[in-house]
Amino acid sequence: MRIIKTKTYEELSLEAANIIRSVIILNPFAVVGLATGSTPIGTYKKLIEWYNKKEIDFKNISTINLDEYVGISYDDKCSYHHFMEENLFDKINVNKENTYIPNGMSNDLKNECEKYDNIINSKVRIDVQLLGIGENGHIGFNEPSDEFIYDTHIVDLTLDTINANKRFFDDESKVPKKAITMGIGPIVNSNIPLLLASGKNKSDAIEKMVKGQISSKCPASILGLNKNTIVIVDEEAGSKI
Ligand code: PGA
Repeated sequence: MRIIKTKTYEELSLEAANIIRSVIILNPFAVVGLATGSTPIGTYKKLIEWYNKKEIDFKNISTINLDEYVGISYDDKCSYHHFMEENLFDKINVNKENTYIPNGMSNDLKNECEKYDNIINSKVRIDVQLLGIGENGHIGFNEPSDEFIYDTHIVDLTLDTINANKRFFDDESKVPKKAITMGIGPIVNSNIPLLLASGKNKSDAIEKMVKGQISSKCPASILGLNKNTIVIVDEEAGSKI
């Protein structure tokens, strides 16, 4: 695991965007795993800036997102579909037919999980998987639990996660209690898991992940099994390592 410590969120975003750009330069057909939440927004802004300057071309890449809420429709402004359109897809030249996000509105969620795994498995491998980390150590919506779940699955969000997500909703009672998430398998087996953390509230999770045992109680700790893992932390998130 390589740890990059930056002073600020801006530097963290630049480092992350540079790694993604390098992957796409080396392989214009790269499969890029994407994440939602506050943390990757600066990275996406950098990528958009370079696209506008014609310094990066997304035409041939595919993207696979980590997760989506159950019961929130595509066009809801709180959906991760909407987040991705607004923060990245509508602003670059990615072919939207090659962007994948689970469908949390499916009336057969079990089948939706299988379909998502088939999409993931149809790719040779995810070349770079961007990740945030929850204060509870989750990656994607793989919440702390008694076991690691390898494949895409439906998850009951923990109270910590529901509380953390409230900030994105006008009406707190609308915060979903369930989500569909890529499992641990494709994340840890991606060519480069790239985890970003910013802010003091992430320092405990980063400490557990970097210094603790590999444990499903801190799902991010599994990234220690992949020697290509890159963790980028700003000063506050990295203050305990
Ligand atoms: P955040 O979420 O980037 O909004 O802090 C990260 C996560 O929960 O994985």
